[in-house]
Amino acid sequence: MVVEVTKAGGFGVLGASTFSPEQLEAELRWIDQHTDGKPYGIDVIIPTAYDKQAETSTEDLARLIPQEQRDFMNRLLADAQVPELPAEERERVHQEIVTGRGAMTPDGARRLLQVALAHPQVRLVVSALGSPPPDVMAELRSRHIIVGAMCGKAQHAAKHKAAGVDLIVAQGTEAGGHTGEIATMVLVPQVVQACGDEVAVLAAGGIATGAQIAASLALGAQGVWCGTVWLGTRESELDPFEKEVLFAAGADDTARRKARTGKTVRMLKSQLSEAWERDDAPDYLPTPLQGILYNEAHARVVRAQRKELYSFPAGQVVGMVNEESSVRDVMYRMQLEYVEAIERLVRLQGEA
Ligand SMILES: Cc1cc2nc3c(=O)[nH]c(=O)nc-3n(C[C@H](O)[C@H](O)[C@H](O)COP(=O)(O)O)c2cc1C
Repeated sequence: MVVEVTKAGGFGVLGASTFSPEQLEAELRWIDQHTDGKPYGIDVIIPTAYDKQAETSTEDLARLIPQEQRDFMNRLLADAQVPELPAEERERVHQEIVTGRGAMTPDGARRLLQVALAHPQVRLVVSALGSPPPDVMAELRSRHIIVGAMCGKAQHAAKHKAAGVDLIVAQGTEAGGHTGEIATMVLVPQVVQACGDEVAVLAAGGIATGAQIAASLALGAQGVWCGTVWLGTRESELDPFEKEVLFAAGADDTARRKARTGKTVRMLKSQLSEAWERDDAPDYLPTPLQGILYNEAHARVVRAQRKELYSFPAGQVVGMVNEESSVRDVMYRMQLEYVEAIERLVRLQGEA
């Protein structure tokens, strides 16, 4: 997706936070080879609240998951008769998830950044769930890399601005992934105001058409940042079973839940996400432990193709993503719709 977005005139950004440093190196090498020297970005999660033991531990992080939460998840899957993964696959999935989720702490993000800095085409680094710490900021600055931060509240924008970022992604509650409570329509003008002329603002959350891009620019944003719309493309990592669930979902089939990472993520609602909200459910674990527990269960659900238990991060615009397309088609469709929206506005003004 990063390659195709970049080739079609966008600025592709790779969500790197679930990769181990070795996996990220392989991904970036491949992107470098396919983007004709064009710049692209990476996004890392630098949370302000997380499990400190998991950040420094050298042992298998899954061992830090308490028995109560482990038993609850196992019971949910056993009651729903979701088979265990075959031993070999279980080991592979376990290794992949444990090494990847270890990156969801500040030091984990620093390890990923060291890998990214060896790839000169990486010209943008965005931090999610917190401002980039001063040492990260200084290192990126010294290499003239554009620094951005995700933001769900005007107060966060002020902190990011004080940390010295170049751009802020104002992401409304309707977005897929980690998200706050304020809608894009309300958040974007507030963040634009908080940023003044010094920091650029991209609007995110609920953008899948050119009309939504035009609306974002009307609110004062200088560009947009999309997530959910890419899930339905043939370049997306989702398999055919997962896409079928996605295409059938409506705008009201998502909810903000902590089951996936321990922090609120907007995702498709399912019996699994809702079970963790019940009174008899244990507390959510801190990042990155809840993610390790959830993703091992998720791998079982996907393998068993159990759509009633399937939850994946997706925003409310999932209701507008109804069939498979390509990244290139989405990019061109949105540009055409954008021009049509602007022409409509110009006509309206002429009539006024
Ligand atoms: C499957 C998925 C994974 C995401 N992962 C990340 C991530 O790792 N880091 C991040 O900053 N945002 C992440 N997001 C949020 C997106 O960057 C983006 O802000 C959001 O999807 C925009 O709203 P939309 O989903 O309505 O397009 C993710 C979103 C989705 C749907």
